[in-house]
Amino acid sequence: PTIRRADYRPLPWTVETVDLHFSLDAEATVVTNRMLCVRNPDVEGGPIRLWGEALERLALTVDGQPPASLREDGTLLEIDARGERVVVEVRTRINPRANTTLSGLYRSNGGFFTQCEAEGFRRITCFPDRPDVMARFTVTLEADRAACPVLLSNGNLVEQGELPGGRHYAKWEDPFPKPSYLFALVAARLVALERRVRTMSGREVLLQVWVEEGNLDRCAHAMDSLVHAMRWDEETFGLELDLDRFMIVAVADFNMGAMENKGLNIFNTKFVLAKPDTATDLDYENIESVVAHEYFHNWTGNRVTCRDWFQLTLKEGLTVFRDQQFSADMLARVASEAAGPEGAASARAVKRIDDVRVLRAAQFPEDAGPMAHPIRPDRYQEINNFYTATVYEKGAEVIRMLHTLLGQEGFRNGMDLYFSYHDGQAVTCDDFVEAMSEANNGFDLDPFMRWYGQAGTPRVKASGAWDAAAGRYTLTLTQDTPPTPGQALKLPLVIPVALGLIGPDGRDRPLRLEGEGQAGATTRVLRLTEAEQTFRFVGLDAEPVPSLLRGFSAPVILELDEDDARLAFRMAHDADPCNRWDAAQRYAERVVLALAADPAGEVAPGFVEAFCILLGDDRLDPAFRAQALALPGEGYLLERMSAADPAALRSALMKAMRTLGRALAASWLAVLETMAPAPVYRYHPGDAGRRALANLALRYLAAAGDERGLACAQVRFEGATNMSERFGALAALVQSASPARGTALAAFHARYRDDALVLDKWFALQAGAWRWDATAAPTLERVRSLLDDPAFSLANPNKVYALLGTFFRANPGEFHAADGSGHAFWAEQVIALDAKNPQVAARMARTLENWRHLTAALQASIRPQLERVLASEGCSPDVAEVIGKALEQV
Ligand code: ARG
Ligand code: ZN
Repeated sequence: PTIRRADYRPLPWTVETVDLHFSLDAEATVVTNRMLCVRNPDVEGGPIRLWGEALERLALTVDGQPPASLREDGTLLEIDARGERVVVEVRTRINPRANTTLSGLYRSNGGFFTQCEAEGFRRITCFPDRPDVMARFTVTLEADRAACPVLLSNGNLVEQGELPGGRHYAKWEDPFPKPSYLFALVAARLVALERRVRTMSGREVLLQVWVEEGNLDRCAHAMDSLVHAMRWDEETFGLELDLDRFMIVAVADFNMGAMENKGLNIFNTKFVLAKPDTATDLDYENIESVVAHEYFHNWTGNRVTCRDWFQLTLKEGLTVFRDQQFSADMLARVASEAAGPEGAASARAVKRIDDVRVLRAAQFPEDAGPMAHPIRPDRYQEINNFYTATVYEKGAEVIRMLHTLLGQEGFRNGMDLYFSYHDGQAVTCDDFVEAMSEANNGFDLDPFMRWYGQAGTPRVKASGAWDAAAGRYTLTLTQDTPPTPGQALKLPLVIPVALGLIGPDGRDRPLRLEGEGQAGATTRVLRLTEAEQTFRFVGLDAEPVPSLLRGFSAPVILELDEDDARLAFRMAHDADPCNRWDAAQRYAERVVLALAADPAGEVAPGFVEAFCILLGDDRLDPAFRAQALALPGEGYLLERMSAADPAALRSALMKAMRTLGRALAASWLAVLETMAPAPVYRYHPGDAGRRALANLALRYLAAAGDERGLACAQVRFEGATNMSERFGALAALVQSASPARGTALAAFHARYRDDALVLDKWFALQAGAWRWDATAAPTLERVRSLLDDPAFSLANPNKVYALLGTFFRANPGEFHAADGSGHAFWAEQVIALDAKNPQVAARMARTLENWRHLTAALQASIRPQLERVLASEGCSPDVAEVIGKALEQV
């Protein structure tokens, strides 16, 4: 069934307080739920509506009596009630052990954990499980003391004690009204790293990171990240922690990254645990940003929440933007200590490039496929399918554009007003944008709202005309958004285009629009609001080269007609590091796609030369060089081909890597000399950048089969003092034809055989392996045999994402084998997963959604597999929505 945004209606009854009692048992947990239900004064008449799913109802009373009249329809329970306030009490029994969906209450490693967003709470008890019902929760947990010594829920611990039969209990009270999706409980054998800090108003608060005992030495970075995030939100937005205690709990079985439950964030272990021997620099970075993300939700999500799930980007887009800004500020702070303001700017740019890479790799394809939707969707079948790159990443870009249009101070004023109006409420995206407008003298944001309703990635085209006699450069910008499913007509959007004009000497010119008195800054933000607009710049001494969309000022595809020489010029001179990187990416894309189209061709010498200049420029931050010298992602390139041919692209990428490895071997080896491993590991962006560049050098050299490079990889692998270096060297060996790759993988496995998170890396590396050695077996064979590895389990999402997710999404060259073996394997695995965990199955199903972009032969191989999954017995609504849309005729 399709749920529509336009159908939103408030409920006739809401809940003021809820008292939950859990008698925890692995197979028969009894939940007693006492709700004070109150009539909604804004709605005339109607029953109490509760949702329940996979529950065994033991008892139900209204004001202590059996209900006079009640209807049940699937998951919906309607109770007719009189008066204004009634107490509804429901008792249900659930089986956490049988719950393999990891939504609701489930078991992991002998403990009890919950995940309620979006609609998991209804799998715990009957409740008006919608975000616009905000209630005050009191929770009592009762469990076996030996098995579950730690009992946690939201808010403050108010009571605890012993019970007969080896059981004990704890009672928690959350002072803040919250929607049910923010409820959480944990009952397990855990230990905590603790820290006490003062908030900006001087209150002392207790911070805890709860993990299994053996992981206590891997919590310090998560704790530091939490403290940094708290400080940042105080300093940047004046937002303070509102509880006396804030807890993070790590759990090994978790569908997503983490969850912002009030005062009790529950995390995938992947985003908590880190020590130098087991975590890479990227892991450290991700932990910092996910910890911050969840913490920031306390205000943007929890204090002010969403009226309905169509508004998801209200909290997610805004919170991703906040975590991106936080990470950029953290990087810039450290870099400025070492390298001054220039270093800080470069560090920010590197972070921005990361974000843009993610957007291009994940969101652009989504916008170009059957699941395309606006950041605020109009309809969905299964809400869990809408925790997407569009809602999150494009949503963050939309907030970023607001920030650009209103300026730092204007944006802050808008945030202040938003909280002053809506604290404690469940609101819509309109409410947010209206507050932004009102705080900025009624800044007209109505045209801007189209970003919330229109799907698809806009194409912006630029063309320039130079009038030498007048010293005038005329820039014409056009925009147009291609149609998306169910949305043929597109209107012009408000697109901030940050622009610089580069002179022939490589220096930026001050910008002066015709009619202006004085030349101003060298980068300016033009506002493109029409289908076509012209801007005239005057006072120029020579024909400039435009640098458009600096800092990636809008989530659009910029179509530029630049020749190789101009790309090389911008690679060398663009003052905006993002655009310098982008110029390198564009040039690389052109070279690789040409090789894909003409397998007999060679890498253009002009590219090798431009690449070599960047590689050898020691004034450039290594982290930036590592970004600029990495070829565009394979998935991104695939989407840039028409009738995409993954095999041809794979060959082209291999050839490009071999050529760049061989032709620049001396430079890569020099990089390895200068970027020698630091004696002691510390997570530091400067060190991380050096490691990234060294690891990239190993990759190119290994691809080229360079003996010195391979030997160096071997030495680094064996002598590494930290995971970043060990894994970087291993990855280089695995992505090569070297016979050492098998022994290195085995050594790595032997060392980390008991470490689940590190084994995920081991699985992913093998699933992502290219066939550099043409005589090697297809990667699929290895993936199949790894399914039977004792460490692998379809029940653990991290394992599924590492092995199957990597193979399906990150290894198109092997996955799309011409014989269709990969596609049949895909169907088999999606069906097997769907029986356990529909959310994870749907995520895996999405790996084929853009199948129509592939060659006709591949489409013919894929279609029957899509049909097979859709027709499979018990296909979940989650998977059915994804496949149904993929098969829909467009
Ligand atoms: N709100 C969480 C976050 O962004 C994500 C939870 C998503 N859960 C789900 N079942 N879709 O941090
Ligand atoms: Zn979030």
